[in-house]
Amino acid sequence: MPHFLDIDRTDPQALRGMIDRARAMKMARNGAPKGVPDSEQPLAGRMVALIFEKPSTRTRVSFDVGIRQMGGQTMVLSGADMQLGHGETIADTARVMSRYVDLIMIRTYEEQTLLEMAEHATVPVINGLTNRTHPCQIMTDVMTYEEHRGPIAGRKVVWSGDGNNVFASFAHASRQFGFDLTFTGPQPLDPEPSLRDWITIERDPYKAVQGADLVVTDTWVSMHDPQSAKERRHNQLRGYRVDRDLMAQAKPDALFMHCLPAHRGDEVTSEVMDGPSSVVFDEAENRLHAQKAILRWCLDV
Ligand code: CP
Ligand code: NVA
Repeated sequence: MPHFLDIDRTDPQALRGMIDRARAMKMARNGAPKGVPDSEQPLAGRMVALIFEKPSTRTRVSFDVGIRQMGGQTMVLSGADMQLGHGETIADTARVMSRYVDLIMIRTYEEQTLLEMAEHATVPVINGLTNRTHPCQIMTDVMTYEEHRGPIAGRKVVWSGDGNNVFASFAHASRQFGFDLTFTGPQPLDPEPSLRDWITIERDPYKAVQGADLVVTDTWVSMHDPQSAKERRHNQLRGYRVDRDLMAQAKPDALFMHCLPAHRGDEVTSEVMDGPSSVVFDEAENRLHAQKAILRWCLDV
């Protein structure tokens, strides 16, 4: 079953095919109004369930719009409103949902929920973010980098901040797409040990960013982190804020990315977010195009 669970679980050639198709589909739309259907309708007659156990703006809207542009239909479900949130097993939910829909996209807390859903579903399952990874976002980020600067292979990408779920998918992508990835952040917020063979760790953010082609950050407090950790994390991370001085250490044509939502003034200043290096809103747009290609790969259409 062609699930899209993680970048490290997907064949590099398939990943490359998705990025190339996403760019081709974006160009084919050529700025058409969002409600205009694509000329091809590969999802005609298909029904997709979008399940959210956590909040979302980009993932929810971009999947919904993308599926409709390709002729498919969607239902957006809150995990809390489903029996899934009230004791029905994930396996049983997966079996039942598979009788109704052609594909399941799920944003969930525990990675185990995603994996059990995939194990028991008889339709493809897409990871729309777990506590551990966010693969749709990083497919988008690779697409966005290449759109602006050409092949990402061999480039230096620097992550400044928390070694979180978005970072983990960057680490997977560094191996699959062949770029160098440096993590800079405080030791207590290091990425999980399984990722450390693939990355460089540099505690000094100014040293880390030297020669970077791309600088990336994310929120200091993720949706799965306890709010009680907020003050401690702010103290640990304030030296890793991406501001004009830090960006000045990168290459002159370096890009800045953030998956959003951003906390302006915390992990990034407005000057950088709205500055000439920033491609954050192209990233947000490209969620739509990248996920359309992921959906087509999963459904083989
Ligand atoms: N970047 C991202 O996944 O955003 P949402 O949480 O709004 O979906
Ligand atoms: N790391 C963030 C990403 C949000 C898209 C979170 O998990 O909350």
